[in-house]
Order: sequence, then structure tokens, then C-alpha cells
Amino acid sequence: MNEQFSITGKVAVITDAGGVLGGSIAKYFMQQGAKVVAVDIRQEQLDKRVEELKTYGEDVIGIVGNVP
Ligand SMILES: NC(=O)c1ccc[n+]([C@@H]2O[C@H](COP(=O)([O-])OP(=O)(O)OC[C@H]3O[C@@H](n4cnc5c(N)ncnc54)[C@H](O)[C@@H]3O)[C@@H](O)[C@H]2O)c1
Repeated sequence: MNEQFSITGKVAVITDAGGVLGGSIAKYFMQQGAKVVAVDIRQEQLDKRVEELKTYGEDVIGIVGNVP
């Protein structure tokens, strides 16, 4: 992403973050300097994902939620 579309410092809410696609998106957003709110319905998957994402920075939280 170039400067025009920089997401550094922005807050991104990523649903299904415990899964394959959501996890990849969350990882990329963290690498770009965004603050990530990771949402998933499964606590265990979410906890694993948040731990993984913390290797890229501290600006990540996990929220268990049912996103319709
Ligand atoms: N992975 C691919 O290559 C691919 C390709 C094309 C389409 N898709 C589609 O994209 C979607 C996501 O794919 P994926 O591979 O990441 O799936 P996945 O099963 O790895 O992840 C889905 C995640 O969503 C969570 N989830 C399910 N229902 C939820 C709800 N109501 N609220 C919150 N979280 C919920 C699950 O707990 C899981 O962690 C699926 O519909 C899939 O069919 C995936």
C-alpha cells in the first residue's frame, strides 16, 4: 500500500479473524501499522490468532462475537 492509501494508525475491525482469510487480512493490516480489532465466534481460534498477531505489535485486541 502506498502513502495515499496508508492505513498506519487506523483502527481496523476484522471479522472471522480466527480463520484463514480473516487471519491473513489481520496479519497484513498489523504489518502495515494498523490497530486491529480481531473478531471471531470461536474463543480458542481467536486467542491463538491474537497471540500470533502480537508478534507484529501490541495494537491488537480480540473480541468474541457472533457477526451475522
Ligand atoms: N480460504 C479460501 O481460499 C477461500 C476462497 C474462497 C472463498 N472462501 C470463503 O470465505 C469465507 C472464509 O473462508 P476461510 O477460509 O477464512 O474460513 P475459515 O473456516 O478458516 O474461517 C472462518 C472463521 O469465521 C468464524 N466464524 C464463523 N461464523 C462466525 C460468526 N457468525 N461470527 C463471527 N465469526 C464467525 C469461524 O470461527 C472461523 O474462525 C468462507 O465463506 C469461505 O467459503 C474462502
